[in-house]
Amino acid sequence: LDNGLAKTPPMGWNSWNYFRCYDVNEEVIKETADAMVESGMKDAGYEYVVIDDCWQALERDDNGNLQANPERFPSGIKALADYVHKLGLKLGIYAVPGTETCAMHWDDYPSGKIGSYGHEKQDAKQFEKWGVDYLKYDWCRADVTEGLEHIPAFEKMRDELQALDRPIIYGISEYGDTKPWEWAKPIANMWRTTSDIQANWGSLMTILDQQVGLYKYAGPGYWNDPDMLQVGNPGLSETENRAHFSLWSILAAPLMAGNDLRHMSTSTAEILSNKEVTAVNQDLIGLQGRKIRDDGDKEVWMRPLANGDRAIVLLNRGQKETEMSVNITDLGLPQSSSTYYVRDLWAHETTQSTGEIQASVPGHGVQMYRISPADPVEASENVQHVKTSDK
Ligand code: DGJ
Repeated sequence: LDNGLAKTPPMGWNSWNYFRCYDVNEEVIKETADAMVESGMKDAGYEYVVIDDCWQALERDDNGNLQANPERFPSGIKALADYVHKLGLKLGIYAVPGTETCAMHWDDYPSGKIGSYGHEKQDAKQFEKWGVDYLKYDWCRADVTEGLEHIPAFEKMRDELQALDRPIIYGISEYGDTKPWEWAKPIANMWRTTSDIQANWGSLMTILDQQVGLYKYAGPGYWNDPDMLQVGNPGLSETENRAHFSLWSILAAPLMAGNDLRHMSTSTAEILSNKEVTAVNQDLIGLQGRKIRDDGDKEVWMRPLANGDRAIVLLNRGQKETEMSVNITDLGLPQSSSTYYVRDLWAHETTQSTGEIQASVPGHGVQMYRISPADPVEASENVQHVKTSDK
């Protein structure tokens, strides 16, 4: 969406993957915002604190306005936005295009007819008044609303957001059901490409497979969203967390952490805050990474970067450690060179290579590198600039 926002993939945190419906409340949101600052994540580029489903009271007020759940958000959303803004962060919120919300009809949670259907303008204005900076608009349960169609429904809220004076990032989710990459570029800043991510290796790999071929649809202001991160949640090992984060970064995915930032391990904080990896994710040219080799369990993913460098992820989907090798000349670097710098983005070490990279890759793990020509005569101006500033 050409609204001047999300020129690089949005970075932040969302309550859903860890707190789900019942455990999200204003204390969690405030403490999470604090933790985003204290852990170094803000410094690494994280900005949006997003409250997912279940923040709402089950009824609109007498004027038809949405209101926060009085038990779990007694101070209201405006107070929360003020709190988050004081920390230099931004607030995100969740709404649905149909008449009913999603999670609220599950289990014993009472259903709320508080969708934005017919209230789009009013809700957009409400979000603006509260100081909201990001809207996740989720198709979930929209099917019960008779006659509702994806594209017009998502366009409607886009128009209402565009009519406001406040810049609000617009993320949509319909789980890839209607191939949003083919139609959502003028509608949203990001669109989900799959159903919900789970904190296990199989889910990560299923989602990864669904990203093949989607690279041509993303760019500055409009991103494929392979769903929020599960890094640091029970179900993934440290090696898997690193693989997950590397892959989502090379995919130019929005990096929305989904763990409990208040109680994360040092390892999880370090993975989420690895600035060499987030620099790949936030690269300004905005080209999404793509799979360039598929050899059973061994895959190579590559992303061209703005200064001509190449980022690569060597992925081992199998359980056992394995050797992998890549020929740098296969990566399509714009300038050939007799030697290349190979920067290991997890070990934070640079080596030189004349053309071959060999690595041992742990089971369910990755190696991630940034490659640039080392030969000053043949290197492009941009690359020389980066090399100088690296020293
Ligand atoms: C479905 C979405 O895919 C999830 O990310 C989450 O927002 C839930 N709905 C909330 O009900």
